[in-house]
Amino acid sequence: ISRKGSSLVREIHEKQSMNKSRQRFWELAGSKLGDILGVEKTAEQIDADTAEVGEHGEIDFKEDAKFSQHLKKGEAVSEFAMSKSIAEQRQYLPIYSVRDELLQVIRENQVVVVVGETGSGKTTQLTQYLHEAGYTINGIVGCTQPRRVAAMSVAKRVGEEMETELGDKVGYAIRFEDVTGLNTVIKYMTDGVLLRETLKDADLDKYRVIVMDEAHERSLNTDVLFGILKKVAAQRRDFKLIVTSATLNAQKFSDFFGSAPVFHIPGRTFPVNILHSKTPCEDYVEAAVKQAMTIHITSPPGDILIFMTGQEEIEAACYALAERIDQLTSSTDKAVPKLLILPIYSQLPADLQAKIFQKAEDGARKCIVATNIAETSLTVDGIYHVIDTGYVKMKVYNPKMGMDALQVFPVSRAAADQRSGRAGRTGPGTCYRLYTESSYLREMLPAPVPEIQRANLGNVVLLLKSLKIENLLDFDFMDPPPQDNIVNSMYQLWVLGALNNVGALTDIGWKMVEFPLDPPLAKMLLMGEQLECLDEVLTIVSMLSVPSVFFRPKDRAEESDAAREKFIVPESDHLTLLNVYQQWKSNQYRGDWCNDHFLHVKGLRKAREVRSQLLDIVKTLKVPVTSCDYDWEVVRKAVCSAYFHNGARLKGVGEYVSCRKGMPCHLHPSSGLGYTPEYVVYHELILTTKEYMHCVSAVEPQWLAEFGPIFFSVK
Ligand code: CDP
Ligand code: MG
Repeated sequence: ISRKGSSLVREIHEKQSMNKSRQRFWELAGSKLGDILGVEKTAEQIDADTAEVGEHGEIDFKEDAKFSQHLKKGEAVSEFAMSKSIAEQRQYLPIYSVRDELLQVIRENQVVVVVGETGSGKTTQLTQYLHEAGYTINGIVGCTQPRRVAAMSVAKRVGEEMETELGDKVGYAIRFEDVTGLNTVIKYMTDGVLLRETLKDADLDKYRVIVMDEAHERSLNTDVLFGILKKVAAQRRDFKLIVTSATLNAQKFSDFFGSAPVFHIPGRTFPVNILHSKTPCEDYVEAAVKQAMTIHITSPPGDILIFMTGQEEIEAACYALAERIDQLTSSTDKAVPKLLILPIYSQLPADLQAKIFQKAEDGARKCIVATNIAETSLTVDGIYHVIDTGYVKMKVYNPKMGMDALQVFPVSRAAADQRSGRAGRTGPGTCYRLYTESSYLREMLPAPVPEIQRANLGNVVLLLKSLKIENLLDFDFMDPPPQDNIVNSMYQLWVLGALNNVGALTDIGWKMVEFPLDPPLAKMLLMGEQLECLDEVLTIVSMLSVPSVFFRPKDRAEESDAAREKFIVPESDHLTLLNVYQQWKSNQYRGDWCNDHFLHVKGLRKAREVRSQLLDIVKTLKVPVTSCDYDWEVVRKAVCSAYFHNGARLKGVGEYVSCRKGMPCHLHPSSGLGYTPEYVVYHELILTTKEYMHCVSAVEPQWLAEFGPIFFSVK
């Protein structure tokens, strides 16, 4: 793929040879967090490492001699689970053998920690057992998931098992999407949704039981829920709390909940042969594709699971795989076995996500290319080969810089082990690690850093403040966030006008809490009211809350770029989004119009839905919906009024520096800006090969001074 010179892959390619800008980010920040997360090498060291790899392209794995016998046995692929009826499958799950004991422990204790291997049936079965045992007679069973994809797909599966329509007895709720009804007794939801529900109903009266699933992931919202649900449990005798974890560090959860009993589900896993690459690999996308092809051509039946960091890489890998299969087919007379290539990442449309669970037709092999979503949240049976690139994309907040950055980090050892374990669910399997054993042992952290210790806490602070928790440092956190993060997040909220000088919520702050949005987006809406362009701003905020609506198929790149060009508003990507939506609206929200213009109709429909929900909130707040009749300067002003802290100034040709910290940042290639304005504000900064500003608008310097007098003044 690198030979083909695809710019996408080239970008990815550069990214892997550990970039210097990432290093610079941490150096500038002078932050220790960089060390915690494993970015500890100097730029020189990185260069040296890369040089060592040299031109060496082939992946060479260290053999694990002990294992070869196991591998042979694995050839007899068991199709056990797949050939059975749904009811039989349920009984085959490890959790089934301990059903009664588990229910008894739950009966006798208010809080229980349940530990079991991934795939043992915690997520799909526990809720049903609770339902069958009568816990839904007065109240419902809620189950939280850190990921939206998991909440949806699991609800769908449980709906099938219970033979009920989705949204009837079994439903799910994620941000901006509630598929539950009056009959719903089992409700899957993201932890963020439950957290917001606690704002309206502090005691969570409608829930008889909450299952906090995937607690080991330590997502930000789950961590906050720990503290809140502990209180609920103390207040409500009839309330039960179950915390599930895939790993064995359940003791921590148990301790937090006053020595709650830990219930172990016996595992049923097969050995996995772990092969490390002998040398560091230079291009893990290419290496993973190669390895998958080798497995496909040479190994007996058994599906493949590849772990990558994000959508771009996944798409590149899927494209390359399809291409190689094509080439192979056309260059040989022999029949090439079919390979079903299935991407999965959180932004993928739900119907495509569901495909990973479908059984491949006879003789075909599935190859799933996934983000870490397939590490624990989703279990696919039939995987015999795992290819682990050893990286994960994470959002990290840098309190010194006061900004978030999305960047690629090496995974932790715990995550690497979890990934390899996915190969041993149906029979003995193999995991190909595209990194050396020494990087596993010496460079990887033992466990991931909980999100609460590396995230921007703006939202959390806002939420806890509205729950009348005055001093956040007193909140019952399992692992308290660094004080720097709390203080800086509070500072940012103060800058936005959400907190007053003594750290209490202002009127604007109280209104911001009502929106399930990041604070600056909520602020933008409220400024839309003040600047009398709320109608337009509502659209922009909605468009920013859905995945990109621009459709760019690889084989029709030029055509789609030309189509996109027509929507571009040269001075602002925000206005481009507004323009797209506006034109779609003028074309009666038609689907065929979207197809003609290379726009994702599902994305736009989602934006429309989000918009109508935000509009509802606006109405309950009795805020008048004003319009500036598409006076685009006013709209840009509204964007500036909420994003002035993300201001950047032109310095040199096509180069920007952030106004506040002087750090270099660049226009992302996806930006439609037709020129390089003196001053811009951006929606977010993403670190890949460079510090890229995503979604940029030109602003007048005096606006920065007007809205952000804390930072800027006119000389
Ligand atoms: O939560 P845990 O990892 O313990 O297991 P689970 O998610 O409840 O999965 C139990 C079984 O249900 C697995 O064998 C999955 O393959 C199956 N499942 C499925 O077929 N389709 C889904 N959407 C979810 C789970
Ligand atoms: Mg699960």
